[in-house]
Amino acid sequence: MNSPLFQPFSLGALTLPNRVVMPPLTRARAGQPGNVPTAMNAEYYAQRASAGLIIAEATDISADAKGYSLTPGVHSTEQIAGWRLVTDAVHAAGGRIFLQIWHCGRMSHPDLRGGATPVAPSAVAFPGQIWLARPDGKGGMVDCPVPRALDRAEIAPIVASFRQAALNAIEAGFDGVEIHAANSYLIDQFLRTTSNHRDDDYGGSRDNRLRFLHEVVDAVIGAIGAERTGVRLSPRNQARGMDCPDSLPTALAAAAFLAERGVAYLHTNEPEEPEPNPAAEAFHAELRAAFPRPIIVAGGYTLARAEAVLAKGHADLVAFGRPFIANPDLPARLQHGWPLNTPDATTFFGGNAHGYTSYPFHAAITEESPA
Ligand SMILES: Cc1cc2nc3c(=O)[nH]c(=O)nc-3n(C[C@H](O)[C@H](O)[C@H](O)COP(=O)(O)O)c2cc1C
Repeated sequence: MNSPLFQPFSLGALTLPNRVVMPPLTRARAGQPGNVPTAMNAEYYAQRASAGLIIAEATDISADAKGYSLTPGVHSTEQIAGWRLVTDAVHAAGGRIFLQIWHCGRMSHPDLRGGATPVAPSAVAFPGQIWLARPDGKGGMVDCPVPRALDRAEIAPIVASFRQAALNAIEAGFDGVEIHAANSYLIDQFLRTTSNHRDDDYGGSRDNRLRFLHEVVDAVIGAIGAERTGVRLSPRNQARGMDCPDSLPTALAAAAFLAERGVAYLHTNEPEEPEPNPAAEAFHAELRAAFPRPIIVAGGYTLARAEAVLAKGHADLVAFGRPFIANPDLPARLQHGWPLNTPDATTFFGGNAHGYTSYPFHAAITEESPA
């Protein structure tokens, strides 16, 4: 199929063979103890190496950053060695892979932090639940407690942890990192008036709420270079206590800053909404005007929607989340119009190879290159 989705794209120093991106997908299958990536994780990512770009799952920048059971980190020697298995396998299979790095902030639980209360810009509780594993590796949702507001002096060490995590990711063989500033985690908590009630220079005005993001971006760029640094935002997502009336102008200001810094890409995660959607289109156009560099969009995309957003010039790359969970060969399936496997949500988080590396390739691919 002669679609722009299957044309190559230059992203920093990388040439992507297509514009079908695998976005970060938490799967809660890191090896224990230590939250260390394993050979099974390497197999899962290598199966998906035909993506134009893989962005590996949200990964803790430090032990303190943790917000979910069984998610990997990139702060210990063992974790860096575990990720090396993954990046080597993906590169050997012809792929390209960034790592998403995060701090969960208030979306956490003392059980994940050695009993310590989670931290956030302000002592405002997340009005929802997070996933905690039981000893058998299966899990359930639990309430988050009221977090502790970070002291001003505690912020710079977190920025330094983002920087170190980016360096560790490069040491582990990643092609770059994606700073997770979306989905109501710590950076997003600073961006939004709903979760940031600070009265120092990290809260209040838009510039102040953007300060933490700016500092993290500058620290990461300073360590690994702008061409290896991507950023994810989700300004149109209002769930999870994020219904900030200033979220779109804040994101446009962030986009202008990121364009000026020359980051590799801006990635937005958006709610799944019925089409056509004038509000989404208007925001896409504004974002494009603020950020003339590569834009990745995600959120309920189908082949038709992906082609439409590329044709409008509102995005350069399109991420498919749940479809990539179920279809290791997603680009070929989209290109040839082959049917898609259906994702099984009961195996998204935690567990073993079932629902992880077990989804079949299309028969045509299996016949071409027997496993
Ligand atoms: C199981 C699962 C795990 C996810 N984990 C992450 C994550 O670690 N980081 C992130 O930014 N988004 C995460 N997301 C959001 C996806 O990256 C994506 O934006 C979302 O699924 C919308 O795309 P889709 O409609 O194609 O699935 C996750 C989504 C799912 C379904």
